[in-house]
Amino acid sequence: MIIKNAQIGNDTEKVDIVIQDGKFKSIKPAGTVEDPADSNVLNLDGKMILPPFIESHVHLDATRTAGEPHWNMSGTLFEGIATWAERKESLTKKDVMDRARETIRHQAKNGVGFVRTHVDVTDPKLTALDALLELKEELKDIVTLQIVAFPQEGILSFPHGKELMEKAMELGADVVGAIPHFEFTREYGVESLNYAVELAEKYDALLDAHCDEIDDEQSRFVETLATRAYESGHGERMTASHTTAMGSYNGAYASRLFNVLTKSHLNIVSNPLVNIHLQGRFDDYPKRRGLTRVKELVAAGVNVAFGHDDIFDPWYPLGDGNMRDVVHMGLHVAQMMGYPEIQESYRFITDNAAQVLQLTDYGIAEGNSASFIVLDAPDWYTALNEKREVLYHFEQGRLIAETKPHETTLHF
Ligand code: FE2
Repeated sequence: MIIKNAQIGNDTEKVDIVIQDGKFKSIKPAGTVEDPADSNVLNLDGKMILPPFIESHVHLDATRTAGEPHWNMSGTLFEGIATWAERKESLTKKDVMDRARETIRHQAKNGVGFVRTHVDVTDPKLTALDALLELKEELKDIVTLQIVAFPQEGILSFPHGKELMEKAMELGADVVGAIPHFEFTREYGVESLNYAVELAEKYDALLDAHCDEIDDEQSRFVETLATRAYESGHGERMTASHTTAMGSYNGAYASRLFNVLTKSHLNIVSNPLVNIHLQGRFDDYPKRRGLTRVKELVAAGVNVAFGHDDIFDPWYPLGDGNMRDVVHMGLHVAQMMGYPEIQESYRFITDNAAQVLQLTDYGIAEGNSASFIVLDAPDWYTALNEKREVLYHFEQGRLIAETKPHETTLHF
């Protein structure tokens, strides 16, 4: 197959791409590739192509359960956890697989080809983990799923929490999770992170902790994780998700924190769509935004990716798995509206997220798997601003989703 006149990212130079056996065989300046008579040619006329979007933080086990058994009326993270604990009692493997599969179909339509999903393992039966492990295999040609053993109700604060985490890793989870700010005490929080780091080492696994997702300026677990990351020398394999308390830290403390954070190479995943909704709920006015310091982290050279987090569940009652909604909100809340900031913002859901997931076969380059999306726009600014469709989504050279651009006729 030949893709003609494509623009990779925001590059203005058009290229022709030859795809063979599911790989990018060659990428050459437009017009320099001959069309073999029998070849399948797709002429993009200067449309933008990108590697598939990456969802670096979502909870597929809980997706599509908003309102079950009741709606989260306070809108807090904690009512969300309590509501999910009730819904969790009625989980079945089929229930989880059907809901997660449906969300993955929406993600595929929206150009998402890689997904890191946290899966709640504070369940003695590990029903959701069992379901997601099976779904990962079932859909392996459609989506690359990375599964985090996520202790939603704590490692030290939930009965047999450590044993459940270990069991989840034995069963095949890819990433060790944690939730230190939800543990009963600060000491439990620190111990849970130390345990998670050891477990990740034992299983040669990645680590991704929900860390300081609270508006408490005293919630300072990211310093513990960054220090462990720095000391291990494997910070690029570790991630702190949310870190919303960083938005409440005083300047002097933040300055001290950034010292170890930048040395550690720890990744940060921010979830602006969900956290602008969940945080600030205990504030009177003025109300905090409850987002981590995205702009400052990026400026300091820390790798930051964006995740959707929740899709129609007890924490967030909206969402269609569209990562461009996440970027759109993130740019607003992080106040990153300079032209270059907008133009480059696709990196939060592509290259930066690839670093979080530690992907080795990602990107439009000769020799890589031919996984890519075509946007109905000449550049990212237009695609984002005008909500242009993902026209084609290819995974390993195979078309898995196709959308016709909508058409409007103005009668004036
Ligand atoms: Fe989360």
